Amino acid sequence: MQRYLSRKARGITPYKAGEQPQGSGIIKLNTNENPYPPSPATLDALERFDGARLRLYPPPDGGELRAAAAQAFGLPESHVFCGNGSDEVLGFAFSAFFDDDIVFPDITYSFYPVWAAYYGISYTTVPLCDDFTVPADRMVGKGGVVIANPNAPTGIALPLSGIEQILRLNPDRVVIVDEAYAAFGAQSAVPLIPRYSNLLVTKTLSKSHALAGLRVGIALGQPHLVDGLERIRDSFNSYPVDMLAQHVGAAALLDADYYDAIARRIISTRENTAHALAMLGFSVLPSSANFLFATLPGVSAPQLKAHLEKNHIYVRHFNQPRIKDYLRITIGTDEQMAELLRCIREYKA
Ligand SMILES: Cc1ncc(COP(=O)(O)O)c(C=O)c1O
Repeated sequence: MQRYLSRKARGITPYKAGEQPQGSGIIKLNTNENPYPPSPATLDALERFDGARLRLYPPPDGGELRAAAAQAFGLPESHVFCGNGSDEVLGFAFSAFFDDDIVFPDITYSFYPVWAAYYGISYTTVPLCDDFTVPADRMVGKGGVVIANPNAPTGIALPLSGIEQILRLNPDRVVIVDEAYAAFGAQSAVPLIPRYSNLLVTKTLSKSHALAGLRVGIALGQPHLVDGLERIRDSFNSYPVDMLAQHVGAAALLDADYYDAIARRIISTRENTAHALAMLGFSVLPSSANFLFATLPGVSAPQLKAHLEKNHIYVRHFNQPRIKDYLRITIGTDEQMAELLRCIREYKA
């Protein structure tokens, strides 16, 4: 029924989200969710939430969530923007700061080209180096730059010096640093915010804070950038974060000890899994995220993925040049990773 679609809807190629298989007994290592539950304090905030508050619209700016984010990231509230997941925040940022001629790496979060196409923003991709690191000196965009740090799906982080180099190379354009996975080992660019008027950092509670289902994303930057995001928000949906998400998200952001502890656990499981995969012959990229990107020479990645799926283990494959032999494996619990390794050994035997 294409005839009912607008020109825009007909012309776009939507982002393809990872599968969300339902049912019990599934080991879900395909969308980088956190294998541990939200903290007891977060769940307590959820249970004690006064449902009668839902009668009113939520504070448009994020209310207590914005205050908690300011506290958690050590910035004034004027430097914080809250949205419905960082996907929405990033979508608003593309619209707020970019016209044309933006750049991002050839291998990165596959939503960037989708937003660019949606808003009609022209873009160039910069090839990652042979070792899949981001060539900071080549990240120059007349219209702006977007970079995920750590990058996805490689998991490789650029040191802060590289981010600073990109900011200096693009003084008149906004540089978006998407830190969806930074809590798992990358240096955050947030401390650079007071010094760089062109830096916007995005964060999410979906990965480090085990709240993918709540949909909370945050952008951090100087107030003129927050104003830009608010202009777009108020031209689209003035209340992007619901009252319940503001309350629960705030409780999560204020419970850093718990979330730091589960991030450390995930990092330890990641390192053990990377070692075990290397022992099985995989080439594994050095990850600073809650996933590994790995290839087993001589083995078809889609076939291995299919074997794992038969055993109810879901991982992600990207049918894209340069990375079609790789699988992206989210870090689960130690038990889940042991089962993954068992199935891989079985496949190899
Ligand atoms: C690099 C990157 N940025 C942003 C997001 C979006 O996260 P969310 O919308 O759940 O905050 C993801 C999700 O997978 C991601 O991989």
